[in-house]
Amino acid sequence: MARQKWASRTVFILAAVGSAVGLGNVWRFPYLAARHGGGAFLVPYLIALLIVGIPLLTLEIGLGQTKQRGAIGSFRRVTSNFGGLGVLALLSAFLIVSYYAVVMAWSVIYFFASFGVNWADNSEGYFFEEVLQVTDSVGEIGGLNLPIFFALILVWVLTYFCVWQGTQSVGKVVLFSVPLPVILLVALLIRAVTLDGFLDGWALYLMPEWEAMLDPEVWTAAFAQIFFTLTLGFGAMITYASYRDTGEDIVQDSWITALLNSGVSLFAGFVVFGVLGYMATQTDVPLEELAQESGPGLAFVVFPEALSLMPLPWLFSLFFFIMLFTLGIDSAFSLVEAVIAAFTDRYEDLKIPKVAFAVCLVGFLAGILYTTRAGLYFLDIMDHFVTNYNLVLVGICQCLLIGWIYGAEKLRREINEASNWTLGKWWNWMIKYVIVIVLAILLATQFHNDLTSPYEDYPAWALGIGWLGVIIPFGIFIGLIIKDKKELKEEK
Ligand code: PFF
Repeated sequence: MARQKWASRTVFILAAVGSAVGLGNVWRFPYLAARHGGGAFLVPYLIALLIVGIPLLTLEIGLGQTKQRGAIGSFRRVTSNFGGLGVLALLSAFLIVSYYAVVMAWSVIYFFASFGVNWADNSEGYFFEEVLQVTDSVGEIGGLNLPIFFALILVWVLTYFCVWQGTQSVGKVVLFSVPLPVILLVALLIRAVTLDGFLDGWALYLMPEWEAMLDPEVWTAAFAQIFFTLTLGFGAMITYASYRDTGEDIVQDSWITALLNSGVSLFAGFVVFGVLGYMATQTDVPLEELAQESGPGLAFVVFPEALSLMPLPWLFSLFFFIMLFTLGIDSAFSLVEAVIAAFTDRYEDLKIPKVAFAVCLVGFLAGILYTTRAGLYFLDIMDHFVTNYNLVLVGICQCLLIGWIYGAEKLRREINEASNWTLGKWWNWMIKYVIVIVLAILLATQFHNDLTSPYEDYPAWALGIGWLGVIIPFGIFIGLIIKDKKELKEEK
């Protein structure tokens, strides 16, 4: 059977940008910038983009396009006993999408609450007590939170209809799910620059606190963010690229995708900081404190509160939550697509709608834990472990595999054959040494931190669940490599 294809190169770029641009850009990036020295964070961020982000994105797009298979199949075509690396990437993608969908479910609830701006008096209380109804500790599960549970069903039903016909349905959805949030972001920026105080917010965003750059944590945060924001290590970019024709320009499209993605992040920073600047003029809380405090609660506590202080609060709240949802959905379904491809690659007569249904159903079931009243704690733990360990491990193994076993030079030649823009020899160095070293340092620092100070002081059993999210997929990966190697030997 002929492999499914994107309708055009533009559709691929939209899909790849849709995968990259997600909650990571409007929620994670601005709060990291606020926490790590404003303008000084941008320097490590841009360095990380150049030395890890773009080379690795080129690797993933190059791999998928030249091998014409999803994550598992592509690695297997690189070396026959390395399909396990694709399994590691996809299991991690699956763990992540199962809680990412829950964050989207929160946006659905906020969407409906926007009509009455229901959080207006107390945004923090509204989020934690009314929406999440969060319990006092992770040990107290507190039963299912039904509104979130039903919103999660809705998220998965919508996701299903995005992926049910593969590249055909995805190709149609991204035509509006990618531009729409960007347009809404522009509308919010226009709103922000007509409010008092926005320039103070921008000053905080852009003025570097240079001492921050001496802190290694700022660097690790920047590298981890680049990894997350470009959807690297999930197998999604490999899969999307595998639906392209073999002659398309890999190098140029990797740059376009990466630059558009970072462009949206930088732009979102202006919106978020502009609005925070306004908020500081309306409340007694100083701007620095608002920015520092916001942290992960930015999108559901601080920003909604700022929206409620504006004229026409309901309208801009609707804009904001539609934006969050549409930002999230194309990132989420890129991971779902990657998992689906693993099955349709292997069993060619499987029908995409059926596989898509099964993957969405299992994704929903896996997310139920996060719809309990202790869900926020589990989500936080899973997010910490899977993004900091699994994705980085996949990144390192990818570079070792391509750099040292397959040959960076060999893939570079294949990439250059397809591309008008050529990839220089510097890329081989990045893949063989620089990225491996940088990611290994990242991993070691994280490991050291987790051993010396338990993440957010959660009890050991709860952190153990997070560790299982790392150890089980990694164990399966190692097991598969050993098994494949044995089988290869026996065949000989
Ligand atoms: N690039 C995405 C983002 O920045 O939001 C990363 C991502 C996370 C994609 C989780 C998909 C996902 F389910």
